[in-house]
Amino acid sequence: MENRTEHNPETQRFQIPPELIHTLQTACQLAVLTGAGISAESGVPTFREAQTGLWSRYDPQELATPQAFRRDPKLVWEWYTWRRNLVSQADPNAGHHALAKMEKLVKENNSRFTLITQNVDGLHQRAGSEGVIELHGNINRTKCFLEGIPVEENESSEDIPPRCPVCGGPLRPDVVWFGENLSAQALKSAWDIAQTCDLFFSIGTSTVIEPAASLPHIALNQGAIVVEINPSDTPLTPLATYVLRAPAGEILPALLLSAWGKLPNSQ
Ligand code: OAD
Repeated sequence: MENRTEHNPETQRFQIPPELIHTLQTACQLAVLTGAGISAESGVPTFREAQTGLWSRYDPQELATPQAFRRDPKLVWEWYTWRRNLVSQADPNAGHHALAKMEKLVKENNSRFTLITQNVDGLHQRAGSEGVIELHGNINRTKCFLEGIPVEENESSEDIPPRCPVCGGPLRPDVVWFGENLSAQALKSAWDIAQTCDLFFSIGTSTVIEPAASLPHIALNQGAIVVEINPSDTPLTPLATYVLRAPAGEILPALLLSAWGKLPNSQ
């Protein structure tokens, strides 16, 4: 059964199915997977949207692979510096804040809540979310390209990219590039949660990049209720138990209000 909730711009109100509110209030283990769409309302560009997505303007093979970095480390470093500056100027939006508040309320009820993100922007943590599983790393951290160890960037360095203080190799952003493996620990934690949760939210992700794209399917296959929040269709849409077709920054505060009578701390 697919249960759609359309956004009514006239009233800015949502008809959220009452059974979904009840499920949210009573879930024992809630898992949330987020993607670039949750940060869109903070002004951070997504990847695959026509016109505005980063991959419509830039070639990932030129900027987001180890080969690209070997070929032109300065270009790649500077592109990530541009993205890091974008992120540092952005603030968490009502969607991030609603998830942070939801986590608190769920945990107060002695239920479990885990936020898994593909985003590298750190906005969930800045909104107050705890224990976030970052599947694709974090753009604010750097590591040595040769040794893979996390290294503090020496901001006064004149080298672009800066050099590793231990081995002298070039530093790179601590994010996952195409063709690279995710952190085994982060992936295992995410997998375990998808296998055991009773309610799974897929928010602001096109669900096309593996292995993250498999997580809602794992949840579905073991009987969890799966809710998609996205203004557009994705491959998950026809399979999701509920589809909330609205921007995350609008529907998540509405869900919070309906289930707990609370607004995010930002509002
Ligand atoms: P995408 O750009 O593929 O998808 C963003 C999704 O967010 C789309 O389905 C949009 O419809 C949706 N969206 C846009 N605005 C929204 C809003 N206000 N509220 C809710 N949804 C909204 O981004 P991801 O799925 O995150 O990986 O992409 C996955 C991975 O591909 C990224 O982590 C990145 C990229 O290549 C790496 O860099 C390793």
